[in-house]
Amino acid sequence: MNSRLKTIEWRNSCARIIDQTLLPEQISYIDVDTLDKMYHAIKILQIRGAPAIGVAAAYGLYLGVRDFNNDADINAFLKHVDDRAEYLASARPTAVNLFWALGRMKKFAHDNSGGGISVNALKKMLFDEANRILDEDRKMCRAIGEYGFELLKDKDCILTHCNAGGLATSEFGTALAPIYVGQEKGVIFKVFADETRPLLQGARITSLELSEAGIPVTVICDNMSASVMATGKIKACIVGADRIAANGDTANKIGTYGVALIAAAHNIPFYVAAPSSTFDLSIPDGTHIPIEERGREEVANWMGTKKTVPDKVMVFNPSFDVTPSKLITAIITEKGAIFPPYVDNIAKLLG
Ligand code: MRU
Repeated sequence: MNSRLKTIEWRNSCARIIDQTLLPEQISYIDVDTLDKMYHAIKILQIRGAPAIGVAAAYGLYLGVRDFNNDADINAFLKHVDDRAEYLASARPTAVNLFWALGRMKKFAHDNSGGGISVNALKKMLFDEANRILDEDRKMCRAIGEYGFELLKDKDCILTHCNAGGLATSEFGTALAPIYVGQEKGVIFKVFADETRPLLQGARITSLELSEAGIPVTVICDNMSASVMATGKIKACIVGADRIAANGDTANKIGTYGVALIAAAHNIPFYVAAPSSTFDLSIPDGTHIPIEERGREEVANWMGTKKTVPDKVMVFNPSFDVTPSKLITAIITEKGAIFPPYVDNIAKLLG
């Protein structure tokens, strides 16, 4: 990954994030110093991608409690932690990493609140826990990259959808991690990136980070992937995930389901790459995954600059879809690749 593009880091008492809404035109950073600013950054996709949202939430919660000023009242502090977490959890509904990270931070606070600990000491421990979440995220990306590379190494040309790269995590990404690991080993993949309407994460973000890293990348409009796959060029598809149910059904950026169907029609393997924090084993299948609906502007007013739908026409803008697990060749996690039958094999590896 190119060091010009740093998704999130802790610097000068703030969470510093790259503003992804401005990419690729501007590489500009925001110092997030309050929970409200982090809520807003997550909501408007200044920071985005399931694992990065998890890391942002952990720092966001710390920012939301660090100014709590009654050092002696641990119970009031714990209530404050829970309240602030509840608020931050309402920023976006689909990526389960948001809830996972907040749940982990809350549990950590409660588990460590005994023995007469002071609020200030517990705050410091919460900050350390957020740093651990960031650090684990980095390690998880690399592990996914290694396992994914073993599956992809003979597939010279790969298609991906949305951005599940370094800019969706703290480093390396999930779907793009095998490509970066390949580069380190001297294996260069060619990548086709779907543009990913309506917010163009593929065109704006995936192509930027891959090209900055020296990986050959070609952007296509979403409606071109069938004809590109029909040429026989694409040897595998790989995408990230926002939430994976216990049976392997996978929510990811809208359009992913279509890619999986087209891949199946052309006998092209379709892989999902995601950390264990993206699994939601409390739900049996994808019908239980809440799908975020975003505003009409994203569809009707192209990148905020040009009206593309008449005012009186309705717009439907679901931000994610669910790919049924029967279309998924394997799910690559930091603990190894999971193959069908998913109910059994997910439970065995992660349960
Ligand atoms: O709306 P976004 O840009 O947050 O959606 C991102 C995706 O759908 C990614 O593919 C997913 O979060 C995986 S990121 C490793």
